Amino acid sequence: MSETELRVSKIKDGTVIDHITPGYALDVVKILGITGKEKGPITLAINVPSKRFKTKDIVKIEGRELNPQEVHKIALLAPHASINIIRDYKVVKKQEVKLPKVIENIIKCVNPACISNSNEPVKARFYVDCEDPLLLKCHYCGYIMEKKDVLQRF
Ligand code: CTP
Ligand code: ZN
Repeated sequence: MSETELRVSKIKDGTVIDHITPGYALDVVKILGITGKEKGPITLAINVPSKRFKTKDIVKIEGRELNPQEVHKIALLAPHASINIIRDYKVVKKQEVKLPKVIENIIKCVNPACISNSNEPVKARFYVDCEDPLLLKCHYCGYIMEKKDVLQRF
């Protein structure tokens, strides 16, 4: 983006999720449970030019900082995203999202016959076989979930 143009304004306090895989901003907003009925401003930018990759999405949330589980959820959809914590207009913390090797209790298996979907008291558990494109292997049934399966479960 040229220096003469500012597409979305800076925020005062909150979180900027930057370098989101283009096309996934709306999913990121959804997994964060944002409905649009919140008080503070929320800014989305979709398919905007990026220096690092060709294009990216951005989500800016005024007045909210994310917890680790939310960061892991974002990593499932946008493995190159960075989370910037903003306080008084300054970036006070920058974190690249990172998926743990084992994912527990974040999403459920799509295989309806999987024991983790029965009434048994087992925690959903997946192994990250690949981050991009996403491949998650269920610990119990071996089912391989892709990003589209994950999106369906959120
Ligand atoms: N940002 C914002 N409000 C602020 C400060 C920063 O919305 N008060 C946004 C910037 O627009 C950018 C992101 O937060 O999208 C990260 O800011 P910064 O680290 O200053 O930008 P870069 O150096 O370009 O980041 P990176 O190296 O991660 O690409
Ligand atoms: Zn399973």
